Amino acid sequence: MLIERGCAKINLYLRIVGRRDDGYHLLDSLFVFAAVHDLLEVGPAETLTLQVGGPFGGALEGDAGENLVLRAARLLQETSGSAAGAAIRLVKNLPLASGLGGGSADAAATLRALNRLWRLDYSPMELAALGEKLGADVPAAIRSQPVRVGGIGDILTPAPVLPEFSVVLVNPGVALSTPRVFRAWAEANQTFAAPLADQPPPDFPGFVAWLQGVANDLEAPAQTLAPEITAVLAALERTPGAALARMSGSGATCFALYADPERAQAAAVALARAHGWWTWAGALTTAHPAL
Ligand code: C5P
Repeated sequence: MLIERGCAKINLYLRIVGRRDDGYHLLDSLFVFAAVHDLLEVGPAETLTLQVGGPFGGALEGDAGENLVLRAARLLQETSGSAAGAAIRLVKNLPLASGLGGGSADAAATLRALNRLWRLDYSPMELAALGEKLGADVPAAIRSQPVRVGGIGDILTPAPVLPEFSVVLVNPGVALSTPRVFRAWAEANQTFAAPLADQPPPDFPGFVAWLQGVANDLEAPAQTLAPEITAVLAALERTPGAALARMSGSGATCFALYADPERAQAAAVALARAHGWWTWAGALTTAHPAL
């Protein structure tokens, strides 16, 4: 049996820099991946099967046929011409439709896991090109390492040097549809931002000051659809040691950055206890061993 992790994606900033004719938005974003993850277990089998469990597994049951895991598996079968199957188990630890790219992370983990199980030997770049067909965030999730993302999510360039920090994630339990948030942004905005030209300083205070000058452009429209986000951001900002609080992706998950891991832990515990929100504290993930 093989195990792969689908780590939570955080957009440290997200600028909308244009729109394609097909309606997809062109982005400039800095993705990092936290060490909290869905778990994917795959074993050899005659056919493709998927079993879903974990704290957020129940919410996925209705659409098992359309699940990105099975779509990724079928895409890899078709592309490689492989007749092999796989028994797949997904442990869903990340909240759904939450701005953490969980579905994309699962799709990427599936491509990595089945690439190994079926001994296909595709390179990370080839897997990323396949992943693009499954969702805009999948190419970056193949490596799950810090990366600067352009295009609709498909143009990956090296991330700047990042300082060490701890992250707290908070999800208030409201699902937000990504297309709805992009639509709300388009209704309220006529102009596009320019992609960032400068590099952040590599020390934590300098990095935070730099990040404060660049927003997540989707934060305001998401708050109009889910006012809980405003409360989450305010609560995160009030926690001792929080250097910056912001929404990730199209929401509703928000994050805060801390220099001190113990203060991050304390913040996550306190916010879960006070509000009943899903919270997590920890560091960014390390590299996937198989890549
Ligand atoms: O990530 P995924 O490809 O599933 O995106 C879901 C939806 O979010 C798209 O259908 C599109 O409406 C919107 N989107 C967008 N621009 C992006 C990414 C997503 O408009 N760069």
